[in-house]
Amino acid sequence: MIVTMRISVIGTGYLGAVHAVGMAELGYTVVGIDVDAEKVAALARGEAPFYEPGLDELLAKHAGTGRLTFTTDFAAAAGADVHFVCVGTPQRRDGLAADMRYVEAAVDSLAPHLDAACLVVGKSTVPVGTAVALADRLAKTAPVGAGAELAWNPEFLREGFAVEDTLHPDRLVFGVTSDDAERKLREVYAQTIADGTPVIVSDLPTAELVKVSANAFLATKISFINAMAEIAEVAGADVTKLADAIGHDARIGRKFLNAGIGFGGGCLPKDIRAFMARAGELGASHSLAFLAEIDAINLRRRQYVVDLTRDLVGGSVANRRIAVLGAAFKPHSDDVRDSPALNIAGQLHLQGARVSVYDPKATDNARKVFPTLPYADSAVEACRDASVVLHLTEWQEFRELDPAELAGIVETPVVVDGRNCLDADAWRAAGWTYRGLGRP
Ligand code: UGA
Repeated sequence: MIVTMRISVIGTGYLGAVHAVGMAELGYTVVGIDVDAEKVAALARGEAPFYEPGLDELLAKHAGTGRLTFTTDFAAAAGADVHFVCVGTPQRRDGLAADMRYVEAAVDSLAPHLDAACLVVGKSTVPVGTAVALADRLAKTAPVGAGAELAWNPEFLREGFAVEDTLHPDRLVFGVTSDDAERKLREVYAQTIADGTPVIVSDLPTAELVKVSANAFLATKISFINAMAEIAEVAGADVTKLADAIGHDARIGRKFLNAGIGFGGGCLPKDIRAFMARAGELGASHSLAFLAEIDAINLRRRQYVVDLTRDLVGGSVANRRIAVLGAAFKPHSDDVRDSPALNIAGQLHLQGARVSVYDPKATDNARKVFPTLPYADSAVEACRDASVVLHLTEWQEFRELDPAELAGIVETPVVVDGRNCLDADAWRAAGWTYRGLGRP
């Protein structure tokens, strides 16, 4: 019976914590396991260790009922029918490749507790070929041997919409090597499938590749429109109108065509780099050579804003007050991993600017990675006496700012809209010099 299925989730970061809660919401008995005792303690208290809309409510609903528990003890995974591996695969410090040590450690810590038939399901984003290697590793190290079967079930959730994406994914991908594994995954997701979510069943390498190719495509779409922004900047055209116009072509679509300061976060940037590294290992560097250009276009956007800011204050930012609105890599998230906003703030700070950064949710995380940056407690405080205001993360709060009020507290009313989403007419009407990106 579905309701008695027991699930373990290894790794309780952005992906694992939401997946564990989602599995509990589907009615399963779930244990979340992580090596980070602090994170586990917070989750066990029913507190999300990061900001994700809707997560606190579901945690409070299930933590404490006994159906959803969290621990650092891998022995708690023993006896579960399905184990989801959800640990991170960050970029290695010594190159572009993914750091696989957390995935390997997770599997090695889990394996000794697998003494009955079960399914181990990889969800982490990994270089193609990982699953086959892990299946081999499991068969050799688990007491049940090949009875611990490996499957791959990539995750496509977006931060900020993670709960919604987990409960209502737009597709499910099952990489399997047996009918049994497929049956088990169909049982886990029975409710989601009944709701109409399409299922694609494939082999292991295809399932791994679906994930990285989807992210490579999304990154390409963003860098494409940012390349158009570069052209618009030199041709005196408007990239937002261009995006609207080409986006009406259903084959292109308007989503992910917002030009601005480019993509960041813990996924897109490192995933395209790891994908290139893996292609190189497979002797197919040429196939993904274009992704180096996608990465380069993306990083140029940050530089462009730094250079534009310098121009706007007359050639040097030294000792100039610069307000930075936003630190998270995108709104609805407190994640600052590879955040373009924080990177721009950091570059200006290092050039001697008196930067003041405000973010509604990400300030604590920003302080951890960039403690020397000055942070403000509100947008208004950040803007006080500023020579330029940089709008870098498109929080709703920033769209609701009153440009007339802000004009009265800055030194010079100049705003750079790094996300092209402020009401340009309203800001101009209030006396501001408004600069969008890729727009006249
Ligand atoms: C991304 C993918 O969208 C998810 O499908 C995937 O599951 C996830 O990575 C992952 O691999 O785990 P996420 O990193 O949460 O999700 O954020 P996105 O919504 O993709 O945004 C990524 C970056 O692109 C942000 O910095 C955002 O500001 C930027 N972006 C997005 C643009 O600059 N322009 C756009 O039009 C869209």
